Amino acid sequence: MTPRTGVVGLNYWGPNLVRNFDGLAELAWLCDLDDAHLQPLAARFPHARATNDFAEMLADETLDAVVIATPVPTHYALAKQALEAGKHVFVEKPPAMRAVEIDELVQLADDGNRVLMPGHLLLYHPAVLKLKELVASGELGDVLCVYGNRVNLGIVRSNENALWSLGVHDLSVILYLLDEDPDFATAQGSWSIHEGVEDVVFCFLRFPSGKIAHMHLSWLDPHKMRKMTVVGREKMAVFDDMEPERKVTVYEKRADSSGAIASGDIHIPKVATTEPLRLECEYFLELIDGKHDRAKVAQDGARVVRALEMLTNSLSG
Ligand SMILES: NC(=O)c1ccc[n+]([C@@H]2O[C@H](COP(=O)([O-])OP(=O)(O)OC[C@H]3O[C@@H](n4cnc5c(N)ncnc54)[C@H](O)[C@@H]3O)[C@@H](O)[C@H]2O)c1
Repeated sequence: MTPRTGVVGLNYWGPNLVRNFDGLAELAWLCDLDDAHLQPLAARFPHARATNDFAEMLADETLDAVVIATPVPTHYALAKQALEAGKHVFVEKPPAMRAVEIDELVQLADDGNRVLMPGHLLLYHPAVLKLKELVASGELGDVLCVYGNRVNLGIVRSNENALWSLGVHDLSVILYLLDEDPDFATAQGSWSIHEGVEDVVFCFLRFPSGKIAHMHLSWLDPHKMRKMTVVGREKMAVFDDMEPERKVTVYEKRADSSGAIASGDIHIPKVATTEPLRLECEYFLELIDGKHDRAKVAQDGARVVRALEMLTNSLSG
């Protein structure tokens, strides 16, 4: 059965989800508070019903799934309403702003046997899957540290800081690669555009295994960087999303316990070019179809929110 799906939040990101779900599922509803965002989509997808009222969409008993692409502060309340209405939920990242909220959503999904999938797009990126393969297979040796650089000029946001807007992506990848919760997480940042909204943030995380991670997040930077580096004892790997073809590079570089340095070949493994958003949407539909581990997907989302809360507390502390 093709799930009947409704998308809420149709401004910048929502239309990308609409485009994908229209092909993969049955696009049944479109919802936005603002007619200026709703009507153009309603005209493009006339087979979907259009509304400004989320509750009207949820009241449709034939609707199976809800896709939420509204601003972050609304995610928890809308996801909760949708789960309580018995719908499967895909919610853009991060799915909630506080650990207690995500724990409640995870419980609701579990109680109702519904999918709760946070939209951590990079986890469906073939290059990130390749990094995971390199880590999990032991090819890199023990991982010592991971760091991400997500910087460029803009988009300057006024309702979420660089940590919430940019950092969630890198954080989801770091936690996925290391498969551990940090026992220490600290962030420092500054704002220069919108009062109290940090446009530059540096984060440091330490894990029980001793691994460490760092994130540099900024929308006030001369470079455009979308990079994740994994340093292992045997080899090092870099995922550079600005590279059109060489998404992942593996360096045979290491230092042994005496401090001797070894530098060997550099490999460029083949990475599929499939659009990550397409893969992410397909994964949501497969979860609804009973494939994969529903509980794990929801729990992984909770792990990101918990770490984000630690970083946020330290940033504002
Ligand atoms: N995965 C990614 O790479 C990626 C990229 C960009 C944005 N996002 C995420 O997508 C989400 C949306 O981002 P955006 O930049 O499109 O936001 P936006 O503010 O431009 O648009 C949000 C839309 O939601 C609507 N809306 C708000 N509350 C609503 C409600 N209660 N009912 C119905 N409509 C409501 C607004 O009217 C607006 O049209 C955010 O969570 C953001 O983090 C993800």
